[in-house]
Amino acid sequence: MSSSTASNSSLVSGSVTNTVLTPPPHFERPTFLMCAPQWYDINYVINPWMAGNLHRPSRDLAFAQWKRLSHQLQTMADVRLIPAVPGSPDMVFVGHTAAVQHGIAAVSSFAHLQRQAEEKPIRRWLQDHGFLIWDTPRETAFEGEGDVLFDAEGRHLWAAHGVRTCRNCHRHIADAWQVSVTSLHLVDPRFYHLDLCFAPLAGGYVMYFPEAFDAASREAIESAYPAGRRIQVTELEAVAFSCNVINIGRSILMNTVTTDLAHRLAECGFSVTQIDLSEFLKGGGSAKSLVLRLSDSYLETTVAA
Ligand code: ARG
Repeated sequence: MSSSTASNSSLVSGSVTNTVLTPPPHFERPTFLMCAPQWYDINYVINPWMAGNLHRPSRDLAFAQWKRLSHQLQTMADVRLIPAVPGSPDMVFVGHTAAVQHGIAAVSSFAHLQRQAEEKPIRRWLQDHGFLIWDTPRETAFEGEGDVLFDAEGRHLWAAHGVRTCRNCHRHIADAWQVSVTSLHLVDPRFYHLDLCFAPLAGGYVMYFPEAFDAASREAIESAYPAGRRIQVTELEAVAFSCNVINIGRSILMNTVTTDLAHRLAECGFSVTQIDLSEFLKGGGSAKSLVLRLSDSYLETTVAA
């Protein structure tokens, strides 16, 4: 891995940047970044869930729900905060601003202009906290943990394309950590990010909504995870963003589900805490998108919860 002062990397020759020379981050516990919903609102429509919900979220209720999530998360992990920025109402969904592993942060290059203002503050925060920065050119959109997720061991990357993130940057993103990558094609506009329909879980499990993917992608998932480790969600569960979960060891934090999914997860050894995140569903996101993992993923999958 090379360190350089270049502020941008091209698809051919990537480079990591740390001009500040802050010591690299070190985590003993799973650690997540959150951004308070101080400026959260729906001011524009960039996904089907936002349509009809312009200015509908209650900021007070959103704050209460976000705090509940944050308190619950703090019982099993450390939580850091990045200040919310006025004019970036979606910044609360901080999970899409980057993807992080081994102290290297691949910073997003948002597809929509409305979210591009989030890139500078996250880049600065990560750099100030010692992360090496991996950039992606503007021409190839990349939306952080919204569209790229590591397997439980942190050795393989699942990367989506079809709506937001561009397929052409998958290899470039995986090069940040020199890991293998599988591209998955999203085909249902309601599940415009991978984190809405696919969740690698501890213990080698995966939870996913098969219909959100094309046939080749379903096959790729099904050949990587044996049938006994696959937890398929129904459409009803998928539209409640049941795949958008925070998983630490055997604990799962998720939005409320009205079906038997919690029991199915319990049968696989997971203990589920449900938190009503209704105000964030209006913006098209849920538990997972409200956090950005900063520590290595193996800390989450090995910690006994
Ligand atoms: N309004 C945000 C967007 O469209 C919501 C992000 C939440 N998305 C998610 N994948 N969980 O970018």
